[in-house]
Amino acid sequence: MNTTISSLKGKDVLTLIDFSSEQIYELLAIAQQLKQKQQAGESYTPLVGKTLAMIFEKPSTRTRVSFEVGMTQLGGHALYLNSNDLQLGRGETIADTARVLAQYVDAIMIRTFAHQKIEELAEYADVPVINGLTDDDHPCQALADLLTIYEVKKQLKGIKLAYVGDGNNVAHALMIAAAKVGMDCAVACPVGYEPKEQYVTAAKEAAAKTGATITVTHSPEEAVQAADVIYTDVWTSMGQEQESEQRLAVFQPFQVNSQLMKYAKDDYMFLHCLPAHRGEEVTADVIDSGHSYVFQQAGNRLHVQKAILVSLLS
Ligand code: CP
Ligand code: NVA
Repeated sequence: MNTTISSLKGKDVLTLIDFSSEQIYELLAIAQQLKQKQQAGESYTPLVGKTLAMIFEKPSTRTRVSFEVGMTQLGGHALYLNSNDLQLGRGETIADTARVLAQYVDAIMIRTFAHQKIEELAEYADVPVINGLTDDDHPCQALADLLTIYEVKKQLKGIKLAYVGDGNNVAHALMIAAAKVGMDCAVACPVGYEPKEQYVTAAKEAAAKTGATITVTHSPEEAVQAADVIYTDVWTSMGQEQESEQRLAVFQPFQVNSQLMKYAKDDYMFLHCLPAHRGEEVTADVIDSGHSYVFQQAGNRLHVQKAILVSLLS
């Protein structure tokens, strides 16, 4: 089976803006093959002897565990590095950290704050750098989201995805991912919490090539109207904790609840990158309903990341 994409060997995965539609479709196909292998109990270990360093400057459950387990299943090893335990936490520069780690490991995954930090890391590390979430982007999440939508809806092109909530890292990555595979994407957010202009522009440019439509609105009902997929994320992202009280009030009209779901298609699917706050961005009767695929979605993080790892490293 073809489980690598030669055009991705040695590359960085910082944002899906840098990926072609073909590369995204190929990654999804590989992820499906790797998922089938794993479910069949077949061992596949192309990364024997390879090490992934995982730097975390923010907490994580899914990203940390799925990358670590993914490396183990592929025959390699993952190192969990909390930034507080690294010299990075005491002022060693990103550039020096990158140059040192590249002496030891085959790839670096990092979860950090400013997106510019991962760009700097990638510039100085001559091994592939993978984005495990920055303030602006979450490409691995969006790939898992695409795989989940494909598994349930059996298509991506022509699907309508509505993202309701904060125009944050997850919204950015989703808009780009949707645009690249020809999926219509409507983002509904409060005034002042729109996705960044550079992501909207990049998504619209990609959409122009695939025939998708990208819209940003302040009306949740408009976004959700006839949508196949409804997606939301926390109102307060990591690093914004001091704004949480204000956000709780501003985002209230953007809650995903059964009232709002009346505008969606009858067979809508609900997605959330998790962690979720029931009673805030989504009510329990939606996230815990038969429409929700959030745990299949979380599970797919493992498979798409394995597809990324084999493509970059084998
Ligand atoms: N969705 C996601 O990235 O989850 P973690 O913060 O647990 O890694
Ligand atoms: N937007 C959220 C996503 C968590 C996976 C955050 O950045 O905290």
